[in-house]
Amino acid sequence: MNLKGRNFLTLKDFTPEEITYLIDLAAEYKDKKKKGILHDTLRGKNIALIFEKTSTRTRCSFEVAAHDLGMGTTYLDPSGSQIGKKESIADTARVLGRMFDGIEYRGFEQAIVEELAKHAGVPVWNGLTNEYHPTQMLADMLTIREHFGHLEGIKLTYMGDARYNMGNSLMIVCAKLGMHFTACTAKEYFPDAALVAECEEYAKQSGATITLTEDVDAGTKDTDVIYTDVWVSMGEPEEVWAERIAKLSPYKVTKAVMDNAGKDAVFLHCLPAFHDLKTKIGKEQSEKYGFTELEVTDEVFESKQSLVFDEAENRMHTIKAVIAATLGAVL
Ligand code: CP
Ligand code: NVA
Repeated sequence: MNLKGRNFLTLKDFTPEEITYLIDLAAEYKDKKKKGILHDTLRGKNIALIFEKTSTRTRCSFEVAAHDLGMGTTYLDPSGSQIGKKESIADTARVLGRMFDGIEYRGFEQAIVEELAKHAGVPVWNGLTNEYHPTQMLADMLTIREHFGHLEGIKLTYMGDARYNMGNSLMIVCAKLGMHFTACTAKEYFPDAALVAECEEYAKQSGATITLTEDVDAGTKDTDVIYTDVWVSMGEPEEVWAERIAKLSPYKVTKAVMDNAGKDAVFLHCLPAFHDLKTKIGKEQSEKYGFTELEVTDEVFESKQSLVFDEAENRMHTIKAVIAATLGAVL
């Protein structure tokens, strides 16, 4: 398998074999890291990390992964560069491509990261756009595989805003890898019909299924993985909170939902999560709308079924695999 020179913008661009290869590679890097075996085979290379939205996991994963591989990193924060204000994406790409061996981009429309990749001349990695979050998918799949021992045939139910980056990306990866994806949410939060049709084509090849339902009982029955994400994503306006809370509250992940799922079901969340009132935004919004938890109850989040911190750790190992594979590192 040779992914050297490839961009990593959406999993739509990758075959099931390539996705599996990246998960396998991540598992190998994880094993090396745990055993304390150095793997700094990309010494002398440098990467740029552009973040137009905030981040904890993705930024730290890119930085730690790059340092473990022996590379240098430069972080460009949402305000500290010329990007988009005084300099176009195409010009930025051509400048950074002269200095760096790879570029990570987190920001708004997918079209921006596509434009960056078109002009950079070095691999570009999508660290989250409005439409997709592909590095998150590899971490989620590694976590599920570690737990269940396989991916094919696993039933995954996504609850909440299924028409944004997380819902879209989970539907794509499940369809590619032969998993059974259910979006369990209010109709207006179902994924875009064109994307569903595209994923139905992948599903024909892999044996996956795609289900869209508003029925919580049917949508979560006997499922293996219950997955949710925040109801209001980064960059969305304040005005959407009221409607999201009204429409998505029936799709909160509660103990009743977990009990209705399969006997060995697990809970996943890309994080950050509003499972209590210990955050500034959570507290502010709770004063307005009177909730104590949003997309998941604290009880589920803190339960043994919750694998969210294994999942967060796996961000680093999987991002390392993406950097290494696309820059042609020798394991
Ligand atoms: N899951 C995720 O992407 O987290 P960050 O926003 O902290 O990077
Ligand atoms: N949907 C969330 C994902 C965060 C990792 C957002 O875009 O803010």
